[in-house]
Amino acid sequence: MKVLIISGTNHKGSTYTIGRIAAEKLTSAENISEVFLPRDFGEFCCGCTSCIVKSAEKCPHYAKLAPVTELIDAADVLILTSPVYVYHCTGQMKALLDHYAWRWMSHRPDERMFRKQAVVVSTAAGAGVKSAMKDMADSCFFWGIPQTYRLGRAIAAVDWQSVKPEIKESIEKKADSIARKILKRQGKVPVTLKTRAFFMIMSLMQRNGWNKADEEYWKEKGWTGKRRPWK
Ligand SMILES: Cc1cc2nc3c(=O)[nH]c(=O)nc-3n(C[C@H](O)[C@H](O)[C@H](O)COP(=O)(O)O)c2cc1C
Repeated sequence: MKVLIISGTNHKGSTYTIGRIAAEKLTSAENISEVFLPRDFGEFCCGCTSCIVKSAEKCPHYAKLAPVTELIDAADVLILTSPVYVYHCTGQMKALLDHYAWRWMSHRPDERMFRKQAVVVSTAAGAGVKSAMKDMADSCFFWGIPQTYRLGRAIAAVDWQSVKPEIKESIEKKADSIARKILKRQGKVPVTLKTRAFFMIMSLMQRNGWNKADEEYWKEKGWTGKRRPWK
């Protein structure tokens, strides 16, 4: 099983550490890849919408983004980690996610996404974990990933060393429970009713889509008919 950790900071703080703990419960170190933001991708979307209305290759940052995209495509499990910054994920994580708007189900999702699983990890000193995890989980859902697990915790600390042992223990337990589910579902990831329903709505809309690039893509894949990417 290949696991990719995308860290929403350059440093290996509490959030990255929890992501790494989860990854190591799933596979061996040689099967874990890591992307650090902004070290490995630090561009902001410039709003040209070329990726959406023309093609992903037309993004001015396409070449810089390509190595990250390749790692995402090759992974079975994506682990997105971000500390809470003012109630949300970090700006660099959001900037990366913005670059994949064209891959949302409302545009041109990649069929490999429908067989992956994801974990979103966040920590806060006090509050904001729920909204920061949602920032990342939204993209996972709209990319087509059918199962996304949430591993978030207010840790009452600003570094991992100061986190109380009982909090670390409860994080460990939650990571164990998520890892068990992922390992059980790997290879036959259940596609939820929510994903199926959203995909069906998109399928109807793409029969006469507003965006030619999307419409052609869906028709070519056979998704405006009965074919589905998870079958
Ligand atoms: C710019 C900034 C904004 C933050 N905003 C919040 C916040 O809204 N709520 C909160 O509880 N903690 C906030 N924190 C604290 C961090 O979320 C918390 O210490 C987190 O565990 C750090 O994770 P890390 O060790 O992975 O960097 C903020 C920290 C920084 C640097």
